[in-house]
Amino acid sequence: MSELAIGSGVLGELGARMRAVGLNGRAFVISDDQVYPLYGEKALAALRSAGYTADHYELAAGEGSKSLGAASAIYDWLVEQRAERIDAIVALGGGVVGDVAGFVAATFLRGMPLVQVPTTVLSQIDSSIGGKVGVNHPKGKNLIGAFNPARLILGDTDCLRTLPPREIVAGWAEAIKCAMILDAELLDLLEANAAGLCDLSSPLVPVIVERCAQHKVRVVTEDERETGLRMILNYGHTIGHALEAVLNYDVLLHGEAVSIGMTGAARLSVERGLLQPAEAARQNAVLARFGLPTHFPLSVTPPKIEAVLDAMTHDKKSRGAELRWILLEQIGQARIERGVPWSLVSDTVAALLGLRSH
Ligand SMILES: NC(=O)c1ccc[n+]([C@@H]2O[C@H](COP(=O)([O-])OP(=O)(O)OC[C@H]3O[C@@H](n4cnc5c(N)ncnc54)[C@H](O)[C@@H]3O)[C@@H](O)[C@H]2O)c1
Ligand SMILES: [Zn+2]
Repeated sequence: MSELAIGSGVLGELGARMRAVGLNGRAFVISDDQVYPLYGEKALAALRSAGYTADHYELAAGEGSKSLGAASAIYDWLVEQRAERIDAIVALGGGVVGDVAGFVAATFLRGMPLVQVPTTVLSQIDSSIGGKVGVNHPKGKNLIGAFNPARLILGDTDCLRTLPPREIVAGWAEAIKCAMILDAELLDLLEANAAGLCDLSSPLVPVIVERCAQHKVRVVTEDERETGLRMILNYGHTIGHALEAVLNYDVLLHGEAVSIGMTGAARLSVERGLLQPAEAARQNAVLARFGLPTHFPLSVTPPKIEAVLDAMTHDKKSRGAELRWILLEQIGQARIERGVPWSLVSDTVAALLGLRSH
């Protein structure tokens, strides 16, 4: 199981915490060209003060670096550095850095220890936890990858202060998801502290990041290979992923797409008679309070409904019969549901796209 350390200022403890989990080789820090200039020196200093020999490699920031080409360039660097299997890969950055550096750590020398140092809200509460690492194929996102849980996940919430506000808000969408599927009390906290979480002024920032991270650790520990329980983390993601894909991943941030997806999943839950309408309305009000989108029209043109529906289902003939939906029974309680009628799905997507009344 991964060791988790979340809090204000924990980056300064990176080296000491790596020693505490028994990492005694060198440290190869992989970051990107936006994060390294902000936090690289501090990370390296924390490593050196604990006696580590540390070097770093910078990727270009952005999803484009989640590629086999970028991974291959990192392999070249590690060969040059004569990295050994006892040495650790330290991923310093958001989900992109975590995914590609984690993939390199899973594959180079048949596996090296991995330390995740996530620097975005999304990566601190979600992507750095659970061991899913990988890169994109030109034909599809995350098609190449491995399971490689980090030995240590160290999330310094002070690092979030330099994030663009839109990235912060999009990250909180995953916290709202976490509350909706697992933790009703967390929804109360999110609802009452939305403004201070969005501008990071709230003292609850580390508390909430840690609470979400702990939930994810627990869920993935119980279901490492995603056969059951872990699927509930996909709440809002069936529609969310489809929206991201048809908009070529450059219109909506992941959290924004998931926010719209959660609105859809809550509506399906109500239509299936599982969830009280007032609870769905409350979720949507919390999303709106964070400034997250719940439906189109946005400032962008909505995609075509057929494209969204096609992106949700691999086998067009079965029209989604194979889909397993994560729906809600109440706030804090999710379940897996098969056999949701396609007409209901299509109505719901139409409503989200602003083609029909809600
Ligand atoms: N492995 C998983 O389980 C999992 C889960 C969810 C998402 N993901 C992946 O995560 C990726 C998205 O991650 P993300 O949202 O963290 O995006 P990201 O890594 O692209 O980071 C967003 C932007 O913010 C910059 N940045 C990062 N930290 C910063 C900081 N502290 N201050 C200023 N700028 C900073 C980055 O350079 C980048 O430009 C996607 O590729 C997605 O597929 C993986
Ligand atoms: Zn997500």
